Amino acid sequence: MKKKKLVVLTGAGMSAESGFETFRDAGGLWERYPVEQVATPEGWAADPAMVTGFYNGLRRQLLAARPNEGHCRLAGMESDMDVCVVTQNVDDLHERAGSTNVIHLHGELMKVCSSAHPDDPRCIRTLGPDDAEVPVGATAADGSLLRPWIVWFGEAVPRLEAAAREVETADVFAIIGTSLNVYPAAGLVRYVRPGVPVYLIDPNPVRLPSGCPVTVIRDVASKGVARLHEALSRQEKKP
Ligand code: APR
Repeated sequence: MKKKKLVVLTGAGMSAESGFETFRDAGGLWERYPVEQVATPEGWAADPAMVTGFYNGLRRQLLAARPNEGHCRLAGMESDMDVCVVTQNVDDLHERAGSTNVIHLHGELMKVCSSAHPDDPRCIRTLGPDDAEVPVGATAADGSLLRPWIVWFGEAVPRLEAAAREVETADVFAIIGTSLNVYPAAGLVRYVRPGVPVYLIDPNPVRLPSGCPVTVIRDVASKGVARLHEALSRQEKKP
C-alpha cells in the first residue's frame, strides 16, 4: 500500500531544545543582533568581516549541538509515512537525525558560496568541523568573497517552488516551531489541499492565515512530534 505523505514545515522552535535560541521570542537572536546587519545583503556589503564572524559563531554552536527527540521522531516516522521536511532552519539537525528528504528554504549554515553569484553550484562548498571557521577575506572559486549560503532578507527563495509542490501533494501537513512571520515561507500553508488535516505544534499561540482549520498541539517539539505521531497512528488503525 502506498504510504501517506506527511509534509512538515519547521522553524526555529524545532531546534530550540537542541540549544538554539529562536529569533523572535524574548531574548531571541534578533534581539541581540540587528537583523539588518547580519541577515541582509546590505549588512554584508557594509561589514563582511563582522558577518563572517557572526556565522562562524553560529557554526561553532551547531557543531556542538545534537538533534533532539523531535528531530529523531520525525526521521523515524519515515518507516510509516513518506515524509518531506520543509525547513526554515539553516542547521543540519534534521539530516543528522536521519531525515532523508529535507528542503532548506533559507539555506544551510554549513555551506558557503560566492558573494558574486550565490547560486552558482561550482562555488558552493560544504564545510566540515575542520574548516567551519571561515577566515575573514577568504574567497570563492570565482575570486569573490566567500559568503554564507544563507537566504538573507530581501533575497529570492530558490527552493520555494519545490517546497510548494511538496505541500500541494501532502496527505497530512504539520507546522512545527515557527511564528509564521516570514514570507514567502509562511504562505506555504495556502498550498495545502482542502480537506487535508493540518497540525500545529508550538508551546505558544501562533496565528495562521484565516480559514485554515488546524489541530493545535500546544507543546514543545520533542513532545509535540511524539503526540502527532501517536495521533496519526491512531487514525491509521481506525476501521
Ligand atoms: N518547540 C516548538 N516550538 C517552539 C519551542 C519549542 N521548544 N520554543 C519556541 N518555539 C516556537 C515559538 O513559540 C515561536 O512560535 O518557535 C517559534 C519561533 O519563531 P521565530 O523565532 O519567529 O522563528 P521562525 O518562525 O523559524 O523564523 C522564520 O525568520 O529571521 C528569519 O530566517 C530566519 O528562518 C528564520 C525565519
